[in-house]
Amino acid sequence: MSKTITSPLSERANNIKDSITMAVTDLGNQLKKQGHRVISFSAGEPDFDTPQNIKEAGITSIKAGKTKYTAASGIIELKNAIVKKFKNDNTLTYTNKDIVISCGAKHSIYNTLIALINTGDEVIVPSPYWVSYPDQVELVGGKPIIIEATDKAGFKITPAQLEAAITPRTKMVIINSPSNPTGAIYTKQELQALADVILKHDNIYVLSDEIYEELVYDGTEHYSIASLSKEMQDRTVVINGVSKAYSMTGWRIGYTGSTTEIASAMGKIQSQTTSNPTVASQWASLEALEGSQEAVETMRTSFESRRNLMVKELNKIKGMTCLTPPGAFYTFPNVSALYGKTSPEGLVANDVDFCAQLLTLYKVACVPGSGFGAPDHIRLTYTASAEDIKEGIDKIKLFVESLK
Ligand SMILES: Cc1ncc(COP(=O)(O)O)c(C=O)c1O
Repeated sequence: MSKTITSPLSERANNIKDSITMAVTDLGNQLKKQGHRVISFSAGEPDFDTPQNIKEAGITSIKAGKTKYTAASGIIELKNAIVKKFKNDNTLTYTNKDIVISCGAKHSIYNTLIALINTGDEVIVPSPYWVSYPDQVELVGGKPIIIEATDKAGFKITPAQLEAAITPRTKMVIINSPSNPTGAIYTKQELQALADVILKHDNIYVLSDEIYEELVYDGTEHYSIASLSKEMQDRTVVINGVSKAYSMTGWRIGYTGSTTEIASAMGKIQSQTTSNPTVASQWASLEALEGSQEAVETMRTSFESRRNLMVKELNKIKGMTCLTPPGAFYTFPNVSALYGKTSPEGLVANDVDFCAQLLTLYKVACVPGSGFGAPDHIRLTYTASAEDIKEGIDKIKLFVESLK
């Protein structure tokens, strides 16, 4: 009897979904290879170079021979700088035993989930969400429970929605403020109202992803839910990193602040998986946190003016509505009023058709909202130049006006 051939892959690997946005990315790459100029609003990173002083610190560390293993959870100098940063920026008191430095904030999120989530535990994920949250929850055996925050609600969940989603299996709530993809920011009062719900239940933790903390506009302030009370701090793992604020996406340094118990578990997990994050990147990150912060403000003001331009131009297009995002570097317009219309490429039935046809016909790349759990929307990054923003949105206008 011949054996049935089954997939060699684990159930976990088989369960990871292919990114719905990959098809549009592939199409953009194909067009570029064919020699077309594509205006890209799809990047997830700043367009600035890493500041020179930070690069130099990385180079100096290599030249000084700092090229060997470090403690798995990171060098003490950087942990101390992170403790100081949490104190100064977020009024959060940690010791260096509460800090784990990892290979990017994405890795910090994964470590947090694997340290806290048991098989079958529910993790509440507000949508629109950053693409990796639901898949990472599933990878560690958890169950993502999606609750929807619409544009009418400013892309923020309410305490009532949160309470209604909580069950005896709920172990965690993910909060991402400022948000990718919406740029939404919870106020201190809104966070307090969510914290009041969470603290009514024993054993519910918060993963608070604050990677866009520095990129806030119009004088809006960023608050960490962990800073509301000692009790809330003990229930929260704060995620942050250097990728977005210091334009260091390729250096791969993220970090967490948590209780010592959780940090020590994450440190053990990291010691058995990746070991320490890259040494030169750790020294460069130390300079990022301790050196001049001038470049952060230069980048922030530049993003703010490009945001204003993009939002103004997008809202001139009939059929698209775009809130002004108070943070991060993305706009997230609603394009659902255009679904059901037709372009020379065929029916625009949804966000994926919209982005694929816009790219094919006008060579402008945006990201479909369904990857973020919001199929009425598309995401545009304003890390492009002002000229590209103007030209790209003029082309989107032509595309929309051509729809019948
Ligand atoms: C909300 C959010 N969290 C985390 C990350 C990951 O950051 P890092 O590059 O440090 O892994 C990103 C990157 O796009 C993000 O948008």
